[in-house]
Amino acid sequence: MKDFLTIADYSPEEIQSLLDYAVELKAEWADGGNRPILKDKVLAMIFQKPSLRTRVSFDMGMRHLGGDALYLSPAEIGLGKRESIADVARVVSGYVDGVMARVFAHEHVEKLAEWASIPVINGLSDYNHPCQALSDALTIQENHGNLKGLNVTFVGDGNNVAVSLMHICAKLGANFTIANPQGYDMPEAAIQEGRQFAQESGSTITLLHDPHQAVKNAQVIYTDTWVSMGQIEEVEKRRQVFPPYQVNAQLVAEAEKDVIVMHCLPAHRGEEITDEVADGPHSVLFPQAHNRMHAQKAVLARLMA
Ligand code: CP
Ligand code: NVA
Repeated sequence: MKDFLTIADYSPEEIQSLLDYAVELKAEWADGGNRPILKDKVLAMIFQKPSLRTRVSFDMGMRHLGGDALYLSPAEIGLGKRESIADVARVVSGYVDGVMARVFAHEHVEKLAEWASIPVINGLSDYNHPCQALSDALTIQENHGNLKGLNVTFVGDGNNVAVSLMHICAKLGANFTIANPQGYDMPEAAIQEGRQFAQESGSTITLLHDPHQAVKNAQVIYTDTWVSMGQIEEVEKRRQVFPPYQVNAQLVAEAEKDVIVMHCLPAHRGEEITDEVADGPHSVLFPQAHNRMHAQKAVLARLMA
């Protein structure tokens, strides 16, 4: 596989192998023994949107592996505006060894991959967030042993993070449930793919609107912002619709006793998640954020070595 654009492109065995590699690299890092697997290789990081985790974890991941990373801001590149995506892809292919891109339209990262002769990694699009999902699977595995047969519930907007989480759950045999408000569903095509993967792994996809019903038996509760980047004009409307979907202590108490609470961050405390939950005993928010670096190192090493 040249690129990492969507979890849907990878088989369950390939995903598990990336997770195993991440576990290995994380153990080496913890022992202070990073291997220079990507010595002298450089990753270009193209951002059309802001970032803390994606930017820092990819940059540090490249340094750990003996390489380097270049940050290219929205203003510098003007992807598809100052210059066509096909031209950007062909130009950077001659300078660096890989590209990570955070874009608005998913077609833009697909187009980059089509025209680049080097690996392209999707660092979030309006459609999905595969690096987040891979890292989240690592965190779930660390807490619950294995995804097979687990009940994972997403509460909130049927957004990019929900799509990739559904895909990885379905691929790895976890039962995925979402409770989202009417009209804020995941895209139908993504759901169809998820159903196909769930059938192959023997798991289930359940689409609900009631968060209380959705968290019953949940071993993982996941939430994300009600207003994603690029949706700022919808902020007022969304703030009226989403409050019943807040992950608070009362909702968490309705799940399994050993439930872990996850959020890709940035969190809007007091909106989709309360401080009590974000900082409470079930929260894995910060180890989850840190695992971005470990999981992505496995992707970088696999694609660029
Ligand atoms: N979760 C995540 O992708 O965070 P950033 O937007 O800060 O990169
Ligand atoms: N759904 C959020 C995720 C941020 C990491 C967004 O797209 O803004």
